[in-house]
Amino acid sequence: MRPPVTDQLERIAGEARSLLGAASTPGQVEEVRVKFLGRKGLFSELFASIAKLPSQDRPTAGQAANRLKAELTALLKQAAARVARARPAAVARFDPTLPSQRPAMGHVHPLSLIIEEICDIFRTLGFSVAEGPEVELDWYNFDALNIPPDHPSRDDFDTFYISDHVLLRSQTSTVQIRTMEKTRPPVRIIAPGRCFRPETEDARHAAVFHQVEGLVVDEGISFSDLKAVIHMFARQMFSPDVRVRFRPSFFPFTEPSAEVDCTCPACSGSGCGTCSHSGWVEFCGAGMVDPNVFDAVGYDKERYTGFAFGMGVERIAMRKYGIKDLRLFYHGDLRFLQQF
Ligand code: DAH
Repeated sequence: MRPPVTDQLERIAGEARSLLGAASTPGQVEEVRVKFLGRKGLFSELFASIAKLPSQDRPTAGQAANRLKAELTALLKQAAARVARARPAAVARFDPTLPSQRPAMGHVHPLSLIIEEICDIFRTLGFSVAEGPEVELDWYNFDALNIPPDHPSRDDFDTFYISDHVLLRSQTSTVQIRTMEKTRPPVRIIAPGRCFRPETEDARHAAVFHQVEGLVVDEGISFSDLKAVIHMFARQMFSPDVRVRFRPSFFPFTEPSAEVDCTCPACSGSGCGTCSHSGWVEFCGAGMVDPNVFDAVGYDKERYTGFAFGMGVERIAMRKYGIKDLRLFYHGDLRFLQQF
């Protein structure tokens, strides 16, 4: 009589061969291996039942089981090699008529948008865009701008020094000097760029920030030209009915100097939280170029006059977009950036 183990062996062999023949992925081959040769697989059960056979039947059944196990091991190896060579099903079903996946597009940072907008307005007024280095000599950041050796802005607390005479520029006014050293009047430039100051970060201050500088030099330039240019800029940047006022101030490189306010874009001048209920917000420092600056660059101060101005880009962007915390510009949060 055939021991029942022999039937069991044949059933296992048949099932294993057909499953392996149908397997088309590495995962399916692995499933077959676990089912038959795994620790709790059918072969474990088989050897357990052979152990319970009468002793005279055990050797034949054991040999048959071992032969089948060897055969199955070889088949698994072949199947694994076959599915590894096969092209993945997804590629086989590739449909060239489907639209391609587009990579996510980046877009312009809000501060760059504002800088571009400022530059565009001044371009329409005949200005060209100039640039200067961020790592600067103290000559351009201070001396040539008529800032005396003992001026507090030269202090370590207010300027990042790289060495005694090399620093990170604390203002874009440096580009006034670099431009005048290279060119003869007439000069009509704006200079956008990054500036650096050892500030403690908060909602309104950052150690890295942006300014746009302006400079006009020619024969017969007067304070009324400065007022007209600033007023035209403010009308285009903020709103057509914005009002502008000049408050007397002091900057070493301009004489006279002014701080320039416009009516608060949030309340149009009636007073609100944004403008501390004054109706005005400052957006610019400005003035007539100090004759000492002309001396520093070798311009004839009897022949030429000029005006200069400098504005903070972050402040303008905050007002324009109603942003309360300047740190949002730098923290790279896509939920913020994707709104622009
Ligand atoms: N450089 C000045 C600052 O950082 C801003 C400024 C004021 C620039 C008056 C000018 C100017 O050109 O005329 O505070």
